[in-house]
Amino acid sequence: MEEALTGLTAAQKTLSPKWLYDDRGSALFEEITEVPEYYPTRTEAAIFETMMPHLPALFPAGGDIIEYGSGASKKTVALIETLRPAIYRPLDIAADFLAQAAAGLQAQFPNIAVKPVVADFTDPSQIPATEEGAPPRLGFFPGSTIGNLTDDQRHTFLAGARKGLGDGARFLLGADLVKDKTVLEAAYDDAVCGSAALNLNLLTRMNRELGTNFDVSAFEHKALFNGDASRIEMHLVSLGSQTVSLGGKSIPFADGETIHTENSYKFTVDMIDELAAVTGWRLAQTWTDPKDWFGVFWLEAV
Ligand code: SAH
Ligand code: AVI
Repeated sequence: MEEALTGLTAAQKTLSPKWLYDDRGSALFEEITEVPEYYPTRTEAAIFETMMPHLPALFPAGGDIIEYGSGASKKTVALIETLRPAIYRPLDIAADFLAQAAAGLQAQFPNIAVKPVVADFTDPSQIPATEEGAPPRLGFFPGSTIGNLTDDQRHTFLAGARKGLGDGARFLLGADLVKDKTVLEAAYDDAVCGSAALNLNLLTRMNRELGTNFDVSAFEHKALFNGDASRIEMHLVSLGSQTVSLGGKSIPFADGETIHTENSYKFTVDMIDELAAVTGWRLAQTWTDPKDWFGVFWLEAV
């Protein structure tokens, strides 16, 4: 409540993207992965298919894999089949969705210990650390969810993961790459309104959980590429001047005023190389698709 109030009373109204993911938001994201204009999921999946066979040479069987923002854990099946870990820890903020996905995986892989963790990955203290005598550790962060973190959060997260996973750790990262603005904007403002539904669901969730009285039909989804910051920005635009109440406070909206709800940063290989270097990792291998739209990166602890 406090965080939402601070965000909605700032000069540029903002809400944290982590609030996009309740049960409904997680299901809406799964629908987005099937939207024709939303290329990241299928592009990353194609890269995984070609690079997966190289992984057993890089990481032994019987390891401990932790996946950050695991969602439906769909990409994990191939990883588990390839690496045959002893432990798989899906970590996500959407508790119910996580529990369902973890139960499904446990049934599918009865010989692996599936240990779900409900946590906010922007808070390093919530991420489980290496235990004494633990098997080799691999962090898995696919889908370019790293792009939804701010610069500071991204650095804190990767440095925290390096510390928490311990010496000898590896990290498999999927990150969306900078490309033509029209391709990027279409992916986040698609014809079937997939990203719009995810964005607007935030208001429905706030009405339900925080008692706000947003008229969802009085807001519109907007996505734009901010080239200077190298990010897609999602906003909710107020269609007219209106007032919304939150915790007994009135929050005025001018016609056209926006709530900034999410960033999705787009990277170059050099940006990932530098990010790894300053957070205790070494970029050891990079795989991309033929159009260089998406990158999969193998990091090793230094
Ligand atoms: N890894 C999947 C899902 C990506 S959707 C894929 O690549 O397809 C992003 C996921 O990150 C959602 O499941 C969402 O609930 C989770 N998430 C978003 N912010 C989070 C946070 N701060 N802490 C933990 N999980 C978060
Ligand atoms: C989860 N995350 C990587 C998505 C993205 O592409 O930034 C979230 C999303 N937002 C709108 N569409 C999809």
